[in-house]
Amino acid sequence: MSAENREVRVSKIKDGTVIDHISGGYALDVAKILGITGHEHQVVTIAMNVPSKRFRTKDIVKIEGRALSRQELNRIALLAPKASINIIRNYKVVEKQEVKLPTVIEDIVKCINPTCITNSNEPVLAKFRVDSEEPLMLRCLYCGYILEKADLLRQF
Ligand code: CTP
Ligand code: ZN
Repeated sequence: MSAENREVRVSKIKDGTVIDHISGGYALDVAKILGITGHEHQVVTIAMNVPSKRFRTKDIVKIEGRALSRQELNRIALLAPKASINIIRNYKVVEKQEVKLPTVIEDIVKCINPTCITNSNEPVLAKFRVDSEEPLMLRCLYCGYILEKADLLRQF
């Protein structure tokens, strides 16, 4: 049997979004930030720690009948900076996008330091510098607090 035939595959989807090349172990976090609880009437396939040519192992999240907003893509970039987004229509990949983690994160994350100016009544929006992608470390540009992945997951 050829290597191709031996590969275990999850089924293709008809219409929707495939988030591929998520670092192994992060699929459930990606599902969480997309608000997927399993109680939606939506077909979702999650594959975890499957062998990958590009990386050692990868996770995949396939969502039937749903497109993702810019904000959702930005959130995915925080947890899975190497993910590729495939838009599927009638079983074909019609669009492929790489998510990109910017060096400065604005808007989508709140600082966890209660005394940070961004949590006061001042009209100052939170801003972070990406100190490290994996493990994720975001440094608040106002108070210097470091946020980690768990701090973000509590917010989404
Ligand atoms: N996919 C799917 N349903 C479809 C078409 C594609 O679930 N109808 C999935 C594939 O299983 C794969 C991803 O979408 O996980 C991207 O598909 P494709 O571009 O065909 O795969 P690759 O060439 O391996 O992608 P890449 O070059 O990004 O690795
Ligand atoms: Zn702060």
